[in-house]
Order: sequence, then C-alpha cells, then structure tokens
Amino acid sequence: MLARSDTDRPDEPRLTYADVVGRLENPFVGFGPVVYWVARLDDEVVGLAIVYFLEEESSHIGLTEVVVHPRVRRRGIGTAILKAVVPELRARGRRVVETWQITKGSDGERWARELNFRPVHTVLTQVLVIPGTDRALWQDDAPAGYRLQRWEGVVPADLIASFAAARNAMHDAPSGELGYQEPEWTPDRVRAREAELRQNNIELRAVVAVHEDTGEVAGLTELELHPHRPFWGFQRDTAVSAPHRGHGLGRCIKAHLIRWLLADRPDLDRIYTTTGAGNEHMIRVNHQLGCTTVRIMIAVNRDLAELESDLGVR
Ligand SMILES: CC(C)(COP(=O)(O)OP(=O)(O)OC[C@H]1O[C@@H](n2cnc3c(N)ncnc32)[C@H](O)[C@@H]1OP(=O)(O)O)[C@@H](O)C(=O)NCCC(=O)NCCS
Repeated sequence: MLARSDTDRPDEPRLTYADVVGRLENPFVGFGPVVYWVARLDDEVVGLAIVYFLEEESSHIGLTEVVVHPRVRRRGIGTAILKAVVPELRARGRRVVETWQITKGSDGERWARELNFRPVHTVLTQVLVIPGTDRALWQDDAPAGYRLQRWEGVVPADLIASFAAARNAMHDAPSGELGYQEPEWTPDRVRAREAELRQNNIELRAVVAVHEDTGEVAGLTELELHPHRPFWGFQRDTAVSAPHRGHGLGRCIKAHLIRWLLADRPDLDRIYTTTGAGNEHMIRVNHQLGCTTVRIMIAVNRDLAELESDLGVR
C-alpha cells in the first residue's frame, strides 16, 4: 500500500507504515462488512483486494478495490486476485462489482478498461491544506433567517427528524450511473450510524443551519476524524435542502466547521473531500474555502455474471 501511494496517488503526503496499518484496522464505516484478500509471491505480499459488502439499498454491490505492488504489475496478479474475489461476491448475493477509487490516467484505469468495466461516475478529490490558507476565506456569519448549531457525535433529539430529512437532499447530488444508492435517511438510521462511528472511535462533527421560522434543519455538513490519521479530517456529506438553496448556507456551514475544528485541533494539517465532477455548486464552494483539486477519480462497475463469464470462473 505504501508503494502504491507513490504511484497512484502522488498528490498525497507520503504515508507511513502506521498510517497503512491504521486504515486496515479502521476500515471506513457505513459501507458494510469488509473482507480482505492478499496475493503472495514467494514470501512477500504483492497485492490485495479490499471488498466492502454494501448493505440495504446497495446490497447488490461488492465495492471492490484491487491493488498490486507497482514492481510486479502486468504479470496477471491483479486479474488473478479478482478471480479469487468473484466467488465470494456470488456467495454473498452480489450482482454488480463496483469500484470508486481509480485515479484517472493510472494503471488502474487501463486495467479496468481491459476488463470491460464501465465508467459510471467521475469524482474530484479536493484538499484544504490548512497551513498557509487565508483564514478570511472561512466567513461563517449565518444568512438572515438562519442560525448555526453544532455538535459532536449525536444529533440533538429535537433536530433529528429534520436532520434526517435534510440529509436526504444528498439524493440530489449528481452520482452518474453508480450502482450505489444513497441511503434513505431516517432517524433510526442516523442513530445507527452514530453508534457505528462511536464503536470505531471515529469522532464525528456536524454543523447545521437551522431555519428560524420553522426550527428545522435546512442544511448540514459532517466531518470525521479517524484515530489513525489524527492530522487529517475527512469531510463527509454536505447537503442543503431544496427550498433553502442559493443563500450561501453551504459555504457558511462548512466555514464554521473548519473554524470550530481548528479552534480545538490547531495542528490539523488538511481536510479531504470528494465531490462529483458535475457538482458545480459544491466544487465552487470548496474552491471559495481554499480547497484545491488534487486528483480525478473514476468509478467503474460491471455486471457480476458477465465478469464471471469473461474470467472463466463460472
Ligand atoms: C489495477 C491493478 C490492480 C492491475 O494489476 P496488474 O497485476 O498489473 O494487472 P494484470 O497484470 O492482471 O493486467 C491484466 C491486463 O490488464 C491490462 N492492463 C493492466 N495494467 C495496464 C496498464 N498499466 N496499461 C495498459 N494495460 C494494462 C493489460 O491488458 C493486462 O494484460 P497484459 O499485461 O497481458 O497486456 C494495478 O495496476 C494497481 O494496483 N493499480 C492501483 C489500484 C487500482 O487502481 N485498482 C483498480 C481497480 S480496484
């Protein structure tokens, strides 16, 4: 994984051994159970697969990442790993193999094309590098008629219904032809996610804009802090519900989140965020806050039965 970072994600600061082990021990939360495979050549691990078995609306998908050490690419190892993964996808009732993390222009894109995966979405990885960014960009005065509220970990009970409803505005975010379906948020699902994050020692911070006339959440933004990478923040959903768009709420809540975070975590180095390439409003907001686009990522998928047939595994 260390060697692959240099080759496939040259924009990232060099990861350490502890960073990589930390991610293996702390998989992303909210994407279902995760299963790993490794490929060995002599005594060395030269490749791996990481598969999240998505749940609920997306339970037909195996979210699959295959990685081969750059030193031994083009020897059939990646394809051999995929062949080993496919029976497990079938056993767990998957119909689609999908991957989100292919760097545009990389070996991965060429490999996926060769295996007839279909490009379904393009996502920008953007980063806000805190040192050196002008803090004046983070203007967080709430527009008239709204107030900001924030919390760590648990949505206050009086806001949870409208928080879940506002979160469903994520359905409006462009997602191309991804097989993944954005969850249908309910208060129970919000609580289940909070509990899962807590169990995994992930700190969750949220800022919302509350519409003063109705007392309801009009917009929200969330960020995760993962225990093994204490100097990075991972921006998660930002959504403003349709009647409240166009008032600068998205920028304001994100700016407030950054200010709040830095007051507590002045050593934070960067915040990563991913946004659909067609999501011009979110991309513009991120630029206004000081983010730069560092990588273009391609999502691809393929029908499992077709893949099995091509790979001769069925
Ligand atoms: C994608 C990846 C796993 C492929 O691993 P690999 O072991 O090199 O792949 P294979 O040897 O099985 O490749 C099979 C075929 O795909 C095509 N292919 C693979 N890499 C290619 C490249 N860089 N350029 C052009 N074609 C390529 C070739 O047709 C190859 O067959 P050939 O070498 O006989 O021509 C590896 O490049 C990698 O780890 N990339 C970073 C992670 C990533 O992007 N994963 C992608 C999807 S989850």
